[in-house]
Order: sequence, then structure tokens, then C-alpha cells
Amino acid sequence: MDQNQLKQTVAQAAVDYVLGKVDADSIVGIGTGSTANCFIDLIAKHKHLFLATIASSEGSAERLRSHGIPVYELNAVSEVTIYVDGADEANARLELIKGGGAALTREKIVTAVANEFVCIADESKWVSHLGGFPLPIEVIPMARSYVARELVKLGGDPVWRENVVTDNGNIILDVHHLHPIGSACELEEKINHITGVVTNGLFALKPADVLFLATQQGIITHYPATQRF
Ligand code: 5RP
Repeated sequence: MDQNQLKQTVAQAAVDYVLGKVDADSIVGIGTGSTANCFIDLIAKHKHLFLATIASSEGSAERLRSHGIPVYELNAVSEVTIYVDGADEANARLELIKGGGAALTREKIVTAVANEFVCIADESKWVSHLGGFPLPIEVIPMARSYVARELVKLGGDPVWRENVVTDNGNIILDVHHLHPIGSACELEEKINHITGVVTNGLFALKPADVLFLATQQGIITHYPATQRF
């Protein structure tokens, strides 16, 4: 199977899983990216089985609406039953790097609210240590140079993702050369404390609850490993 077929397969596995968790009052959180897009297209025919969705980006909201799926504002709901999203990297603790599609801030907000975070990915995203994928950081535009200097002090090599403006009107710095990230939780906290940073793409303090990984051998379901490595 090629990468696109793996994404389709894992998206279908997530649809089956989600349908076992929702009822007519449920709100489903929807992520951003090509794998999340597969999920949107596949869940569309089951839209009558849940109430509405919350989208982590304007792009996903538009795709959901094109299927006739209701999209609510997050402030209008008190609960999100389940959130499904892709990742750029995932390790055995289900700590993730996200933000390749520049939607990391809204993604992190929806994971904070959701009762369960289901990550879906093809096997190319599975790593022993995070940091091979440059870590995306959403930054307030006027703080770009200051934040970049602070990231260099942490050992990274930040590169401005030029011509990209996030849905929140901010810029993205992609931090190279962090691999291997030792404690993802510690680094997530340190970067959060740099003034001018809106969000960083480490999802370690609140990792995924379950990961469906599409491999050539089939779907592997991972729950967070508790051992240290
Ligand atoms: C967007 C994300 C995506 O989930 C991540 O980039 C994976 O994308 P894809 O499914 O296209 O590989 O974090 O901000």
C-alpha cells in the first residue's frame, strides 16, 4: 500500500472507532491535514449519527461544510466527545509533534477540551525519539526575532515559515536540529514560557489517548507506554 492508501485505511479505522463512541448529542472534534481530510470524507456518510463537529482549522471547517456536516464554534459547546487528528511524529508514549499544517494552536485547544484524543497516522510518523520533524511554533509576529533567539539558546535552529499566516493571524517558526528530544514534556514547558510564543507543536503534557497506526501489516492500536526511555 502506498502512503495515501495507508491514510485511507487508518481513517476508516478511526471512523469505525468513533461510531462506537458517539450518540445523537455528540460533538466530534476534527483535526487538520491530509489524514484528517480522509477521516472527514469517510465519516460524511454517517453525519446523522452525531450532532455536529468542532474543526481545528478554517480549512477543515470548509471541508466539513462541503459535506453538509454542521460545524459549531467551540465556545458554543460544553463538551467534545472525541477528537480525531493526524500527527507529524508519534512515539511510544503517544507524545506527538504536530503543526505541519500550521493549525497547532487550535488543535491543542480542541485536545484540551475533548474527552478523548484519537491520533491517526501512517507508519512513516512512528519514531523512537521526537525531533526529526522540525518542531512548529506559532509566534506573535512582532516577537519573531526574539523568540528565534531564545530557541537558539535551547539548542534549536529556527526557520521562519515564510508566506504562512495561521488562522489566528500569527507566524510559524520551524525548529530544526532538536533530535533526539529527551524529555518532550520539559521542552514543551520551556518553549511555552518564552514570551511571544502562542503554542508549540509538542503534544506531550497531554499526549494522545490512543493511536491508530497504519502499517503494511494492518492497523496497530497503541496506548501510551508508561516506561521511561
Ligand atoms: C496540522 C497537523 C497535522 O495533523 C500533521 O501535519 C499531519 O498531517 P498529514 O496528515 O497531512 O500528514 O498537525 O497542523
